[in-house]
Amino acid sequence: MISNDNFWYKNAVFYELYVRAFRDSDANGHGDLAGVVEKLDYLEDLGINCIWLLPIFPSPLKDDGYDVADYYGIHPDYGQLEDFKQLVAEAHKRGIRIITDLVLNHTSDQHPWFQEARKDRASKYRDYYVWSDDPSLYSEARIIFLDTEESNWTWDEEAGQYFWHRFFSSQPDLNYENPAVQDEMIAVIKFWLDLGIDGFRADAIPYLFEDEGTNCENLPQTHDFIKRVRKFMDDNYPGRILLSEANQWPEDVRPYFGDGDEVHMAFHFPVMPRIFMALKQEDITPVKAILERTPAIPENTQWCIFLRNHDELTLEMVTEPERQWMWEQYAPEDRMRLNLGIRRRLAPLLNNNAKKIALANSILFTLPGSPIVYYGDEIGMGDNIWLNDRDGVRTPMQWDASPNGGFSSAESVYAHAIQEPPYGVETVNVAAASQDPDSIYHVIKRMIRVHKNNKALGWGDFAWARSTQADKVSAYLRIYDGQVLLILHNLTRLEQNISVELPPEASMETPIDLLSELTKGSVENQRLTIEVPPLGYYWLKLL
Ligand code: NOJ
Repeated sequence: MISNDNFWYKNAVFYELYVRAFRDSDANGHGDLAGVVEKLDYLEDLGINCIWLLPIFPSPLKDDGYDVADYYGIHPDYGQLEDFKQLVAEAHKRGIRIITDLVLNHTSDQHPWFQEARKDRASKYRDYYVWSDDPSLYSEARIIFLDTEESNWTWDEEAGQYFWHRFFSSQPDLNYENPAVQDEMIAVIKFWLDLGIDGFRADAIPYLFEDEGTNCENLPQTHDFIKRVRKFMDDNYPGRILLSEANQWPEDVRPYFGDGDEVHMAFHFPVMPRIFMALKQEDITPVKAILERTPAIPENTQWCIFLRNHDELTLEMVTEPERQWMWEQYAPEDRMRLNLGIRRRLAPLLNNNAKKIALANSILFTLPGSPIVYYGDEIGMGDNIWLNDRDGVRTPMQWDASPNGGFSSAESVYAHAIQEPPYGVETVNVAAASQDPDSIYHVIKRMIRVHKNNKALGWGDFAWARSTQADKVSAYLRIYDGQVLLILHNLTRLEQNISVELPPEASMETPIDLLSELTKGSVENQRLTIEVPPLGYYWLKLL
């Protein structure tokens, strides 16, 4: 059963799940909700607290469901509302929460609202979207899908006007200046919360409003609307959360937390590429710099941090030279690049180096924020850069060594499971990983367990410790309510002997590494002397 703790998200581990890719319960070639139900025991055993489901609504799938054609249904490939209810009930039975994507900014052009709007200027739906005769309006707004879109305006022959869209031209933006649109979305929110879900991952929220002379991102009206949503949720559904997708600099994300009265959680986008920089440079400085630039957030809110997700590894929140460097280092082939990012999965990005993958996850699980695991990354799945757009990181989950990786028994499947070594189903699959005590799967499973059992990792304050070799071996403290943890990461390929100044609260004479449950290092005069193996990491309990 799920707890009745309204602050559950503060120390939860999330799992991002793509229904199409997860498990095909009826052998028709794509995953479905009943398939997710079949795999809940696996997720319970892995230990995650909350599933984030990628969009499951009826959709022409021009953007994999982020182009919604009906906010009140389930895509027929995935099942029906009854299957969804079943999934929520079965997940809750196992103590797992479910949040779904809430696509506020735009609909599909196939949505009946847009169909009506384009047909008839007098229709009440016309004003649900943003139209203009002049495509030079809002010219300061950047184009996000740079590889496919030339403008944020597209001419609609039937409407006889241009319509506004921040993403694909098949995704017209809704007009939030229209109170009717705001009310429609509150009704959508109510509908899904009434089905028992635990909250939403709010897609693309910086772009809800437009204002001439601005970059049309993070406008005050946007914050007002999100606050209205939050109030509606707090009044009627306490304990359900809003997780915002605002791919912005920390100082621009900070206002989304408001005074603890806007979103509960927000992704920390800029920290992600800096973890990859630190790993490659064998130096924690980039992560340190962005955390120093990150403002404090209200106590009832939380960051959400991740290494990879279903999109390209975004390089929007880095400088131009950093972007070029990241591309050179992590996307040497053209096909690995997309828009301002890199379309690869975690294991290939880290050359399938098990130690580096574990180290990256250890950073993820110990920085401030609740971590998200992207499906398949827990077993070190690979990608297929030959597929279109972001499909290469959305291939079927690899459950066993059978031809479709145990994902489906159909002959024809929506996408082939990865076959080629070293990431092919023959070797990379859940069955094999769970039998190998040294697999990345067991490493991550252990991190999830320890994270859940140590509140300092979710609730604790964060502070850098003073230490020798501080750039090469990061040393930080997580402190909460009588618990002090010292987290060490050796980013280098050499063993490092370091000495760390311990805070006055630290009282353990021989710190215990929570992951291995072994004592490590020695303490004298409030200093810890310790050897950290190449690419090694310790989560030391000091109090
Ligand atoms: C962000 C989502 O993560 C991405 O997959 C989608 O294409 C855009 N928002 C547009 O909805």
